[in-house]
Amino acid sequence: MTLRTSPEVGGMGHSIKRKEDPRFIRGKGTYVDDVQLPGMLYLDIVRSPFAHATIKKIDSAKALALPGVLAVITGQDLAKYNLHWMPTLMSDTQMVLPVEKVMYQAQEVAAVLATSRYTAADGVAAVEVEYEPLPVVIDPRKALEPGAPVLRTDKKDKKDNHIWHWEWGDRAAADRAFGEADVRVKEDIYIPRIHVASIETCGCIASFDKVDGKLTVWMTSQAPHAIRTVFALVAGHVGLAEHKIRIISPDIGGGFGGKVPVYPGYVIAVAASVLTGKPVKWMEDRMENLQADSFARDYHITAELAARKDGTLTAIRIKTLADHGYTDAAANPSKFPAGLFHICTGSYDFKAAHVEVDGAYTNKPPGGIAYRCSFRVTEAVHTIERMADIMAHELGMDPAEFRLKNFVKPEQFPYKSALGWEYDSGNYAGALRKAMERIGYAELRREQADRRRRGELMGIGISSFTEIVGAGPSKHFDILGLKMFDSCEIRIHPTGKAIARFGTKSQGQGHETTYAQILAEELGIPAADIQVEEGDTDTAPYGLGTYASRSTPVAGAAAAMAARKVRDKARQIAAHLLECAPDDLVWEPGKFSVKGAPNRFKTIQDIAFAAYTNHPQGMEAGLEAVSYYDPPNLTYPFGSYICVVDIDKGTGEVKVRRFVAVDDCGNIINPMIVDGQIHGGLTMGFAPALLEEISYDEIGNIQGGSFIDYLLPTAVETPKWETDKTCTPSPHHPLGAKGVGESATVGAPAAIANAVVDALWHLGVRHVDIPITPAKVWKLLRERGVTE
Ligand code: CDP
Repeated sequence: MTLRTSPEVGGMGHSIKRKEDPRFIRGKGTYVDDVQLPGMLYLDIVRSPFAHATIKKIDSAKALALPGVLAVITGQDLAKYNLHWMPTLMSDTQMVLPVEKVMYQAQEVAAVLATSRYTAADGVAAVEVEYEPLPVVIDPRKALEPGAPVLRTDKKDKKDNHIWHWEWGDRAAADRAFGEADVRVKEDIYIPRIHVASIETCGCIASFDKVDGKLTVWMTSQAPHAIRTVFALVAGHVGLAEHKIRIISPDIGGGFGGKVPVYPGYVIAVAASVLTGKPVKWMEDRMENLQADSFARDYHITAELAARKDGTLTAIRIKTLADHGYTDAAANPSKFPAGLFHICTGSYDFKAAHVEVDGAYTNKPPGGIAYRCSFRVTEAVHTIERMADIMAHELGMDPAEFRLKNFVKPEQFPYKSALGWEYDSGNYAGALRKAMERIGYAELRREQADRRRRGELMGIGISSFTEIVGAGPSKHFDILGLKMFDSCEIRIHPTGKAIARFGTKSQGQGHETTYAQILAEELGIPAADIQVEEGDTDTAPYGLGTYASRSTPVAGAAAAMAARKVRDKARQIAAHLLECAPDDLVWEPGKFSVKGAPNRFKTIQDIAFAAYTNHPQGMEAGLEAVSYYDPPNLTYPFGSYICVVDIDKGTGEVKVRRFVAVDDCGNIINPMIVDGQIHGGLTMGFAPALLEEISYDEIGNIQGGSFIDYLLPTAVETPKWETDKTCTPSPHHPLGAKGVGESATVGAPAAIANAVVDALWHLGVRHVDIPITPAKVWKLLRERGVTE
């Protein structure tokens, strides 16, 4: 089913209201960087060239001598207010500014406050810092070796670099199944650090009004309410109470999880504004964004699968080492230190599973960003889909046939996985068969055999992923104790126009369009008559924000529920107007009519007017409702992707010839937006598969700290995507919809990696870590004696 799309809501709108706000530069944009406030001051940050060093001295004299430089703020200054450390989302601690030592290259060391952006930058260049380098730990495996330098010396009782151990599943059952298996496969898989690299970098303008004691912060945040609460908890002792804090997230140029955490720059800007009483602006540049903001992935995984001779999968075992950098700042729900990695059973009907993850500290910036992914789902999907292919090849089975044999069957839903999750609905074979048909799978296999005979390298890779999106339910999910529900508030004005506000925050996903469509569908008010707003904590109902594809599953559901409350009241008013019993009325979008007398009706606009002018005595006036929706379960979108690659034996270059993506996100609200989400997501899956990686040398110098080295794909490199869909509604979502924003980013890398290994398997290659660069492939070919 596709919900009705009104022609007037075809595109992704941005809030019109903000464009009329005089604080934004008219005609230029509505982003944080465009906010103009009188008397604004600027912050720039001094950053460490060392990955691990004691700070001996910070000499600010030359900087302070520059005209326009007002202050150099250090950790010592913040320590006076106990603001030099802050909590992370995983209840670890992170430095705002260091007092004793720095822990990674590009870490904030001091901040310069000046009257212009350029003066602040000059001030940064003039600050002299004396460092004494300390031993650096970059490899998390070495970080856990006995005798490794202990990095978190600020934690009094910490004697090693181990953060936590987490495990899930039935170890004994998994071990037993492995003991009884006919075939076992095992592989080491590394999923490297990558960066969300959103077009807009992070930044804020903090404006403290000394007269009314109110702090307003325009910031690039995906979760404004949670940020307000965290600010109040951290800075309550210096007088910032939650009702005196207003966070405004205006339009955001891409978030992808990277704009969930609190970065030191935000806190320093707030402190500087509170101290000076002036608005203070901090905006990262591109290299700061790439080098110092939180990172994604960095999982070292050892995975094993067990199967019977006939190809039936029986068990999965996984051990993982998670590199968190110097602090555990992962944006995971509190209960799940390794996020939702336990969706690693994927689309397959395993009877036994066991998974363990250990976290380690290293001299790197914080990791653990859920980059367009529900808390480590990408890592889980990559692992299971790579392993499924390895097992299929090991068994001598076609990877498609192997998957079809092992999929959870449609009649098994709701399906309880061996790791305890209840998958809501699915038809995995349906999606794979559709993708196979669309790409011409059988013919491609014949072509591959022909080409192989001619010595050419062609591969076909499949990824049949299952996702887990829509956090809540609150019984399972919270962040720093804040339960993960979400919200919608609707007010219908007397003339039948409406305003709807949400606890989520779009970063370009088009919520203004799709939420308006949901309300239009539920209330019969044209979408163009509904103003959708998000991102202002003074006006929007409390919510946990937008990430992990949770907006449609949670706030989209809240929209439907709030609209239905409005409709219930509208029925009472219509009955009053039509002088009949409420039960004698029939609803069709836009009006209530009397059963059997379709000419006796009242439109929603008539009813809205009456709600303020002629409502029944004893009923409260007005037509509005709010819903805080706590979903009963997550939603489990899925899909099957098939990729065809050709490999150049001379250069090792991998060329994606075709890529068919069949997605299923249940009922779709706006097909055009969903297609856009999938196209963007596929590109963001293609990028880490073949191009992107952040690595470090042994003394902690970042490799890939600019777009010269960090290979973000452009339209030139991006393959042509062929998309299609199946539709398996979610049984528990009020609209039958599932989330979709991250599906393609999560599902795509394994399809590409599987295609590459499929092209090379006959040469003895079982696995290649992403990114699969020409250099890696060239080396593998030469090691096996393959030349041009
Ligand atoms: O939380 P986020 O907005 O990133 O992810 P989402 O809930 O998957 O939604 C992404 C966009 O796709 C939103 O504009 C949704 O309303 C839209 N969508 C849709 O039209 N139909 C669906 N079944 C799922 C999402």
